Amino acid sequence: MKETLYMTVNEKKVTVEVDPAAMLVDVLREKLGLLGTKIGCREGECGACTVLLDDKPVNSCMVPAMKAQGCSIKTIEGIGTKDHPHALQKNFAEEGAVQCGYCTPGFIMSAYALLSEKPNPSDQEIREAISGNLCRCTGYTRIIGAIRKTSNQGRNK
Ligand code: FES
Ligand code: FES
Repeated sequence: MKETLYMTVNEKKVTVEVDPAAMLVDVLREKLGLLGTKIGCREGECGACTVLLDDKPVNSCMVPAMKAQGCSIKTIEGIGTKDHPHALQKNFAEEGAVQCGYCTPGFIMSAYALLSEKPNPSDQEIREAISGNLCRCTGYTRIIGAIRKTSNQGRNK
């Protein structure tokens, strides 16, 4: 039997019928077509599936979808578009912080949450904020550099 889930996703109210055991990442990707949120480990280890749940970053592979009842979700699609990228997206591209790109949406969501709360974080705070996100390709220096550049520009929009 399905349950009805009401939530706000990227500032739009949505209603979806979901399997009570469904995970949030699957509802976002399969029911709402928001494929920017990636699936890596499904074990809460890689951060590829990071979204904001009521402004806090969560691993959406570990959150039962029904836990989002009445909540507000932000995914990478709610941050910026190809034509109007967010400063973080631009800076990740410009600073060489993206190679295969699979980890990038998750990193950007973690960084976005950090800069929303702390516009001028220390390097240590940046490292902590992305400590749940894994990247196999770039090493972390360029990712930290892209987040630092966004912070220095005073832009989290
Ligand atoms: S897919 Fe969710 S943490 Fe890896
Ligand atoms: S860019 Fe490939 S995993 Fe990070």
